[in-house]
Amino acid sequence: MAKLMSSNAFHLLLLSSLMSFVAATTSIDDAANAKITTLPGQPKDASVAQYSGYVRINEKKKMFYWLVEAASDADSKPLLLWLNGGPGCSSIGYGAFQEIGPFQVLPNGELAKRQISWDTEANLLFLDSPFGVGYSVRSVVEEDGDNSTAMDNFAFLNKWLEFFPKFKYRDFYIAGESYAGHFIPQLAQVIVNQNKGIARPVINLKGLLLGNPTLDRPTGDPGRWEFYWVHGLISDATYENMRKFCSVDRASEGCKNAWQEAYNNEIGVVNIYNMYARPCENNTTQDLMYRGGNEFCLEADTVNYLKRKEVQESFHVDPSHIPFNYTLCSEPGVNLKYSRSDGETSVLPILKELIEARLRIWIYSGTTDIAVPLPMTRRNIAALKLKVQEKWYPWYHRDQLGGWIEIYEGLMFVAVMGAGHEVPMYLPSQAHTMFQSFLSNAPMSEPPPKQTNST
Ligand SMILES: *[C@@H]1O[C@H](CO)[C@@H](O)[C@H](O)[C@H]1NC(C)=O
Ligand SMILES: *[C@@H]1O[C@H](CO)[C@@H](O)[C@H](O)[C@H]1NC(C)=O
Ligand SMILES: *[C@@H]1O[C@H](CO)[C@@H](O)[C@H](O)[C@H]1NC(C)=O
Ligand SMILES: *[C@@H]1O[C@H](CO)[C@@H](O)[C@H](O)[C@H]1NC(C)=O
Repeated sequence: MAKLMSSNAFHLLLLSSLMSFVAATTSIDDAANAKITTLPGQPKDASVAQYSGYVRINEKKKMFYWLVEAASDADSKPLLLWLNGGPGCSSIGYGAFQEIGPFQVLPNGELAKRQISWDTEANLLFLDSPFGVGYSVRSVVEEDGDNSTAMDNFAFLNKWLEFFPKFKYRDFYIAGESYAGHFIPQLAQVIVNQNKGIARPVINLKGLLLGNPTLDRPTGDPGRWEFYWVHGLISDATYENMRKFCSVDRASEGCKNAWQEAYNNEIGVVNIYNMYARPCENNTTQDLMYRGGNEFCLEADTVNYLKRKEVQESFHVDPSHIPFNYTLCSEPGVNLKYSRSDGETSVLPILKELIEARLRIWIYSGTTDIAVPLPMTRRNIAALKLKVQEKWYPWYHRDQLGGWIEIYEGLMFVAVMGAGHEVPMYLPSQAHTMFQSFLSNAPMSEPPPKQTNST
């Protein structure tokens, strides 16, 4: 997920086995000590090869990861790095536990095997990044930004591959959502530059999968106003004011007033990550904007799980931080100070570069997300001015409309009908099918439903 950096009135807008004394004192910077026997509450019959711990990238920083090996044929399946956004939201807490990983936290604190996990297709590597996020605990807060994040993630990967050498040269993909629309292309750019002229690169980057990504605000903004208006969230007058004032200067009084009117008097209490999701029932303790992250209170259950001492011990969290007051997204200024201006940087030029480098690039968009809405992404992609290979057409999932696809030269765009910001959480089966298609580099090809004669 989740929290985006752009301003507007929401800050949001933006998503066991106890370690023995010996284990706790030895370094967990290697694969042998990183093995997780079982997590608290893990179903007895769920055998998952999993590893977690830290990779120290310099004196100040060590990054926390969780590797879940593919459920079968792990030695031949690709490696996927998953990154969540924010900046400041945990890939363990969101991506792994709420979206694509093998387990989901139940309200009673036990784990359930997720029926649809991406571990059928790939080895999943979740990284709590930037430093200071999730279990990548930091004590001194210094300003971070897109540059340090990309460099740290790159340093992490190189070191991590030393601990897990079997993944060297393996087909490698990076996926994620929201502000990872910055992290992923920026990391990919460093890798591509590093790999130039190398026939058989250690980090064998093949492609990127970006969900409801933050790419470029100026070209996307009109798409945001359109979405609000088309979905009835704002009045005609406010829409007109946004078009009139915000298109010229978003810091102008006219633009600010329009947003204020929208938030204070028009939009109402809505889940900005999925406008049609019902709120998480009877829960008044969660922040209003997060309320209804999904209807199962998955967020609250996940946080409660990751805060537990025995869970942290099983995950090999640094003993000096246990029990750690885990939060899904870092508190700005408390454990993360992230350059706000970096959020304004356009990632489109980097995408262009990566398209030229012939990486496989798929962008997907859950159509009910308000945070990074579909028309915003469409406008971002239009700004790339790519040649259309196949124009907007429907794709089907189990004989039902799954969404739409547009194929560009060097880029695939997939709309996932009815999904919110975290597409795999809201529509796991559709997302899984899309992931399979992405890996096999073929657009979803299920046949359209049979026409029935209606009377
Ligand atoms: C980050 O900044 C350093 C120093 O200016 C530069 O060498 C490096 O290429 C930058 N990295 C990225 C990913 O922009
Ligand atoms: C929420 O509160 C209503 C009214 O008090 C109650 O009927 C309902 O069962 C509650 N739902 C849950 C999930 O606790
Ligand atoms: C409500 O949310 C809080 C904090 O997010 C969580 O601790 C609590 O268990 C939730 N309550 C219910 C009934 O889901
Ligand atoms: C844990 O973090 C949350 C969110 O930052 C904060 O509200 C809460 O007071 C913290 N709890 C403790 C025990 O520090």
